[in-house]
Amino acid sequence: MYGLVNKAIQDMVIKDHGAQKWNEIRLKAGMEDERFVSLKSYPDKLTYDLVSAASQVLGADAENILAAFGEHWVLYTANEGYGDMLDFTGSTLPEFLKNLDLLHLRVQNMMPHLQPPKFECIEITENEVELLYFSEREGLVPMVMGLLNGLGQRFNVNVQVEYTHKKEASGEPHRFRVTW
Ligand code: HEM
Repeated sequence: MYGLVNKAIQDMVIKDHGAQKWNEIRLKAGMEDERFVSLKSYPDKLTYDLVSAASQVLGADAENILAAFGEHWVLYTANEGYGDMLDFTGSTLPEFLKNLDLLHLRVQNMMPHLQPPKFECIEITENEVELLYFSEREGLVPMVMGLLNGLGQRFNVNVQVEYTHKKEASGEPHRFRVTW
């Protein structure tokens, strides 16, 4: 994944636990360089190793770290020069969710090797959607739950997320019910 993702993990760990814990995590994950380059693409394995090292060093479940990361990502990208892109994506939660693919398409202009997830948003009622999440990457469902909570905060709504269907085969989606 692009360095921006690893930098956001770094930012979250340093804010919550300090620079010393972060260095321990970075070295445990085999990352020798002290800095990530936002627009450089790193192997996915490094991101997974950082989450796993954080889980060991901080004594927290990897799922909880991913969920916290998802929440942090919404704030982090807004402060790291992607605020306009977030603003263009939608001014309400359902509008934003419908435009998630458009958002990653815009990101792809800057990050040509981006392998973004895909989403489909089905309106159920005025305050409920079914969200389909397509990705070939494994294990990121808790991050999506965190992202949705982060978006709830962004739009100042009390969002509830239920993970209703696990992906059953390659190319199939994970499904969530999102209400607010
Ligand atoms: C301006 C804001 C955003 C930027 C710059 C951005 C950029 C990125 C980048 C760089 C990756 C790593 C993929 C790669 O490097 O190949 C990624 C992955 C991902 N993004 Fe975004 N993103 C943004 C907002 C969002 C939002 C609001 C969501 C909410 C659902 C989201 C959902 C995801 C997910 C779930 C992944 C994990 C990859 C996967 O599932 O395969 N992103 N995004």
